[in-house]
Amino acid sequence: MEDKIKKLNDLREAAKLGGGKKRIESQHKKGKLTARERIELLVDEGSFDETDIFVTHRSNEFGLEKQKILGDGVVTGFATIDQRPVALFSQDFTVFGGSLSEAHAEKIVKIMDTAMKLGIPIIGLNDSGGARIQEGVVSLGGYADIFLRNTLASGVVPQISAVLGPCAGGAVYSPAITDFIFMVKNSSYMFVTGPNVVKTVTHEEVSFEDLGGADTHASKSGVAHFNYDSEPETLENIRKLISYIPLNWKDTAPEKEFDFSQDLIVPKLNEIIPDNPNKPYNMHDVINLLLDDGEFLEVHKNFAENIIVGFGRIGGVSIGVIANQPSVFAGVLDINSSIKAARFVRFCDAFNIPILVLEDVPGFLPGTDQEWNGIIKNGAKLLFAFAEATVPKVTVITRKAYGGAYDVMNSKHIRGDFNYAWPSAEIAVMGPKGAVEIIFKKEIQSAENPEEELDRKLSEYIEKFANPYIAAERGYIDDVITPSETRLRLVKAFQLLKTKVDTNPKKKHSNIPL
Ligand code: HXC
Repeated sequence: MEDKIKKLNDLREAAKLGGGKKRIESQHKKGKLTARERIELLVDEGSFDETDIFVTHRSNEFGLEKQKILGDGVVTGFATIDQRPVALFSQDFTVFGGSLSEAHAEKIVKIMDTAMKLGIPIIGLNDSGGARIQEGVVSLGGYADIFLRNTLASGVVPQISAVLGPCAGGAVYSPAITDFIFMVKNSSYMFVTGPNVVKTVTHEEVSFEDLGGADTHASKSGVAHFNYDSEPETLENIRKLISYIPLNWKDTAPEKEFDFSQDLIVPKLNEIIPDNPNKPYNMHDVINLLLDDGEFLEVHKNFAENIIVGFGRIGGVSIGVIANQPSVFAGVLDINSSIKAARFVRFCDAFNIPILVLEDVPGFLPGTDQEWNGIIKNGAKLLFAFAEATVPKVTVITRKAYGGAYDVMNSKHIRGDFNYAWPSAEIAVMGPKGAVEIIFKKEIQSAENPEEELDRKLSEYIEKFANPYIAAERGYIDDVITPSETRLRLVKAFQLLKTKVDTNPKKKHSNIPL
């Protein structure tokens, strides 16, 4: 037996070396960790149980039969993060550049299938040269097997991708289907076609980093939800994300202990809204003061910054925050911010995470660029997402709620459960100046002093409409609250909403405007 155990241990040790010491050194020189080092940082110490360590490829082309490496370029298995189970795979760039063979794909498919049966999140650490070139179409088939499972798992278990090296060609579509993509600055990139092909086809000269690096995808394309300076920081933040979300669609997110006897009045909130309604303020200040310990995991921090989305807790309950940002383009809704927020709302709704909306929105962004690129269908995504969501939904209007944007931002009419407004709220069809210029056009033009008349009509309009009370009279606003008591009201609201049940009509699936 001793011999047999020794053989087993030797095989395991060989597998752990992957493509060998030289390639590991080369990986480190690029500032990258190995597949196993990444897993060690990601999961609870000693919790990782590896599967399929002895799997090898079955290819006999191009001399591959002489190069069989145990594990075949991907480490798969199960572990815990904060004592909660996850399934994971971590591609090993030291083995054939982490390229995906038939066997490599089967290993990933196997843990995905098990994760679906167990109802646990799937985390993929991607670092791969793409399809294993020597295996041809078999490798492409392997990718499609994964894409199918990514799609079927969507909305069943959370799927998180970290891109920690190359991820090119069709291979990008696996992370793209998952719920969140993490990237690392200067060492990861994603593109459908690389710089060389781009140069040939469009004559553009562009570097790997500019074309598909972490900053590009986190700020320009919105493909990446998170980008960090280093791999350890990235892995740490995946752990953080996991702490806010449930294991599957039937589960609820873990709740943190909360001392309900603490003082929940926040006087500072009374000082945030400037006297001048056209002066911006930073919605992050409101978020920080409302959330437990001011802790906020922002998603898409550098993309479409006119809307803020992310996870936090209120009264220990994990929630998703969607907030207009008046300090960026006055918090206007445009194509990118609508898409960003819609995707986030749908994640929250799919996984039973209650939603808090902080609203200060002057409307949708005008212009040919927005109209021609489809602000109609893209703005509709956000409206659709909020309207379809059945999770607890709370809105606080801090200042502006104008036009269609009032309806869209989780209004009472689309099933907001508790809709509050601060006394500074302005809820109307449009902003005072635009409104007065339309409805009093003739009076202003024919007045002896048009400017004075405009001012007079403006004051009249502001007095009449730029407040929350008309909406409150109708019950469109459940209560007008002092800013300082907002945290208290939200703690109570999210506790009360724990028993909420709401449903949508039976159907195959909805048809969100894409
Ligand atoms: C087989 C591969 C490979 C691949 C890399 N290797 N990519 N082996 N199939 N796709 C091997 C190399 O031969 C090398 O082996 C080792 O991995 C490391 O590669 P290097 O080139 O030395 O590393 P580096 O200089 O860091 O460059 C990394 C790279 C480059 C940019 C990823 O390797 C590259 O361009 N690879 C090909 C990428 C590609 O075109 N893939 C197919 C895309 S299409 P040794 O033995 O020397 O260590 C695709 C379709 C997916 O993926 C379809 C889904 C629908």
